[in-house]
Amino acid sequence: MSIPDHVAIIMDGNGRWARERMMPRYYGHRAGVKALKQIVKYAGDIGIRMLTVYAFSTENWKRPAQEVKSLMQLMEQVFSVELDELAANGVRVRIIGDRGTVSPKQQRIWEIAEERTKDNDRLLLNVAFNYGGRMEIVSAARAIAEAVVLGRLKPQDITEELFTQYLYTKGLDDPDLIIRTGGELRISNFLLWQGAYSEWYFTDTLWPDFGIEEFEKALASFRQRERRFGGISDK
Ligand code: FPP
Repeated sequence: MSIPDHVAIIMDGNGRWARERMMPRYYGHRAGVKALKQIVKYAGDIGIRMLTVYAFSTENWKRPAQEVKSLMQLMEQVFSVELDELAANGVRVRIIGDRGTVSPKQQRIWEIAEERTKDNDRLLLNVAFNYGGRMEIVSAARAIAEAVVLGRLKPQDITEELFTQYLYTKGLDDPDLIIRTGGELRISNFLLWQGAYSEWYFTDTLWPDFGIEEFEKALASFRQRERRFGGISDK
């Protein structure tokens, strides 16, 4: 196994990176976008087909209003100013997350970005925004329950495959590798269902410092893993 098909990233450490420079947190997030651009480009170059990044969690609303505002502005920038460059690089973007609780303006920005890049097939960039893994599972369960009540589904129709069709990630393969930067060793409500058999890679490197060399280290570690998906070793 050489290159993982689907890589997911928890981009942690922007705040600390800024603090080390005695700068406000948004400065770290801005540097985080720069790091992301470099990784997106490189991922496409080496043949990764899908990249999923955790940009804003359902819990991030608890941050100070100023920081939430700056994250929203950065997101809008990525999906407007940066969109031409993404599109020119053959990137297709998709948002995974709860669309119902963001502003109509943001919903529109996402729709336009998805529509404009829908024919690109070099790299699929899934941006997890207003995303929470538990919420995703609850909303799938709710939609399935409604279908049962309406007589469209029977309880015995509910299988893992069917459940997957009700998640934000419908149609995507599960991530092969999940990277978390910033030194914390936890999942933080990211891809709870989809990550069941993913390989994890943790690094202390703060996200704005996560460059190609660091990414290559994660990929080298992945190459050494023996994936068994609950089965036994064939060595
Ligand atoms: C975690 O660092 C990072 C985030 C909550 C936001 C990640 C967002 C970006 C890289 C930019 C936005 C990108 C898009 C595509 C819209 P932290 O703030 O928790 O850092 P800390 O743990 O050091 O405080």
